[in-house]
Amino acid sequence: MNHEDRQFLINLAHQAGELARRHSDKLQIGGKADGSLVTDADIEVEKLIRAGLRERWPDEAIVGEEMVGSTDTDTNNVWYIDPIDGTHNFIGGLPLWAVCIGRCTQGVPTAGVIYAPVLGLTWTGFAGQGAYLNGAPASIPACEEIVRSDMIAFTTEATSDLQLELPHSQRNLGSGALHCGYLTTGAFKACLFSNWLMWDVVPGLAIAAEAGATAYNLAGQPLPTLTGFTARDRHEPIIVAAPRCGELVAAHTTQLRQPT
Ligand code: IPD
Ligand code: CA
Ligand code: CA
Repeated sequence: MNHEDRQFLINLAHQAGELARRHSDKLQIGGKADGSLVTDADIEVEKLIRAGLRERWPDEAIVGEEMVGSTDTDTNNVWYIDPIDGTHNFIGGLPLWAVCIGRCTQGVPTAGVIYAPVLGLTWTGFAGQGAYLNGAPASIPACEEIVRSDMIAFTTEATSDLQLELPHSQRNLGSGALHCGYLTTGAFKACLFSNWLMWDVVPGLAIAAEAGATAYNLAGQPLPTLTGFTARDRHEPIIVAAPRCGELVAAHTTQLRQPT
């Protein structure tokens, strides 16, 4: 992806984040079938991002959380939008939410932008071009062991579905995208996802991969592509971490519940 395309995506995420903030003091809140909350901001932000992507890449498939759209995840390029990751934090006035845009190319996450407007943080990752946080290179430190003071991020589903038998400190920020973002700063040693949907992980995986992390299944095998991972279904657990830590965490994680 060239410089103009990268800048276009960053600008689009920034515009989307500012739109969400403008909505935040007069939110209309509704419920979804899965029991989670959605706001008018989630929908307006997704519309804005869809329009931007459609104009610049008219032939590419778009999947977004609030208007799922294309289910063909095996076309060459597919965009995944999570307009607001951390909607419950957004509603509650916590700063831990982010606008997320990612692209898979033949199933491989190759582009990701995560913008957390209140935190003033923008993570980017574009295949072969490195990961950045607010324009500064981000890379995950090598990892040989997990110790008691290491923080491991669990999404809400991972908290109930997975058990990690290693000394560690468990964290759930309420935004899986921010978990991947903070993996690249070294704040987290690993991120556990369970029962996840594509838009929850693709932007973060593109960034984490450029920063030196890999996604593993619970057998400790790296997942080089997400080919075959459908857009509407929830998926088996993954661990995102630097190589040795990913294998270590996988070896000590027990799955208590299957995806629904
Ligand atoms: C959710 C958040 C949350 C995670 C859930 C996601 P949403 O996304 O990332 O931390 O536990 O798995 O669905 O609903 O705020 O976009
Ligand atoms: Ca999400
Ligand atoms: Ca969302």
